[in-house]
Amino acid sequence: MRGREFAQWLEQQLIEQEVHEPEAEARMILEDLGITRLTMVTQADDPVPAGQIEQAKRVLARRKQRVPLQHILGYQFFRRLQLTVNGDVLIPRPETEELVQLALDLAPPGARVVDIGTGSGAIAISLGLERPDLDVLATENSGQAILLARRNAKALGIKVNFLEGDLFEPIDEEFLPLDMIVSNPPYIPEENIPGLEPEVRDHEPIEALCPGADPLLFYKRFAAEAPALLKPGCWLLAELESALAQETAALFKAPDWQSVEIKNDMQGMPRFLCAQRS
Ligand SMILES: C[S@@+](CC[C@H](N)C(=O)[O-])C[C@H]1O[C@@H](n2cnc3c(N)ncnc32)[C@H](O)[C@@H]1O
Repeated sequence: MRGREFAQWLEQQLIEQEVHEPEAEARMILEDLGITRLTMVTQADDPVPAGQIEQAKRVLARRKQRVPLQHILGYQFFRRLQLTVNGDVLIPRPETEELVQLALDLAPPGARVVDIGTGSGAIAISLGLERPDLDVLATENSGQAILLARRNAKALGIKVNFLEGDLFEPIDEEFLPLDMIVSNPPYIPEENIPGLEPEVRDHEPIEALCPGADPLLFYKRFAAEAPALLKPGCWLLAELESALAQETAALFKAPDWQSVEIKNDMQGMPRFLCAQRS
């Protein structure tokens, strides 16, 4: 098979498997095989080595079992990072790249920033890489996730302090008050879990997806606990369930909070809470 035919065949296989984004997945598999966009142009008519075709077939066979491609390849791209991921952490999503941008835009120089529920470390490590002036700390209650986040930061040479524990509890007094809180907490309502794609429902940690019976649990805790930790005028930025955007925003009331805003993601869905401490 020649390069061009191979790329078409690969995408067709993924279309037949009814994967969500066949073109993007085909591109990721090709890149993983060392076949870049440039190679596709310059060597489109060259025969593809048999070993690469066999490797692609192995990936497709696992993908057919609805194993997420990121688990098969072992990584996910996130902004400027290539993060190792596995079944212990949520696979970082494109919307969360936008949450990081909001944080980058609003964080004052030298700010102390905390990422709550860091998972793979995606938000915290991106902030550390893209804004070396920030002092970044991250908390996470899964010990396995913390190990992976530390491994990711180390591999990328980024300094982030990762602490294991419940929400704000592990933060040392010396790190307070905070200039910013960023979080992508679990927010999928329990009743939506059975209807999720099998890749998500059967392979990603349920504790990273779903907060339990109360879908607003984390936002209620943020609204109540964060004012004691955040400097006046500083921001709490959190990803949210679009169907619950208004209920989520309504939790952040005066006198503790001012200027509470919901921002849309690139798909036009309400996705981010920006709440300013009074
Ligand atoms: C939606 S995932 C987000 C992971 C990562 N920040 C990202 O955006 O890809 C939520 C994370 O919060 C963690 N988590 C759940 N409950 C927590 C708690 N009470 N305290 C700290 N972290 C928690 C989960 O283990 C999971 O890693």
